[in-house]
Amino acid sequence: MQNVLDKYESVMEEKVTYWYPCGHVEDFPENAGACIKYKHAQIAVFYFARMGKWYACQNLCPHKVEMVLSRGMIGDAAGIAKVACPMHKHNFSLEDGTCLTAELPAIATYPVKIEKDQVLVGFNF
Ligand code: FES
Repeated sequence: MQNVLDKYESVMEEKVTYWYPCGHVEDFPENAGACIKYKHAQIAVFYFARMGKWYACQNLCPHKVEMVLSRGMIGDAAGIAKVACPMHKHNFSLEDGTCLTAELPAIATYPVKIEKDQVLVGFNF
């Protein structure tokens, strides 16, 4: 089980070696998530319309190791964007991946940018 979790590691924007074009802005729902695949990784991409911000994180919830986070509800905790896992509702920061509700491993987060209506997620693998 740990092996699957080990495949995901946060990428800081300055460490990005490839911006993966994963779709157009209109392909993604507002205030909800969508799952994309890049190499071995399932990535949840969120457009938080109220904040006008995009986020990406691993789709894998570290609680029961389920590929579900893209189906989670997003919201904010004191201004920090977060996603609630649809399975048991643990909350994770979309800013740094920290679990806000339990002693669970942080999820990996990835930078997102928009260029000419294209959604690009930054990776270094
Ligand atoms: S599987 Fe995500 S909170 Fe349990």
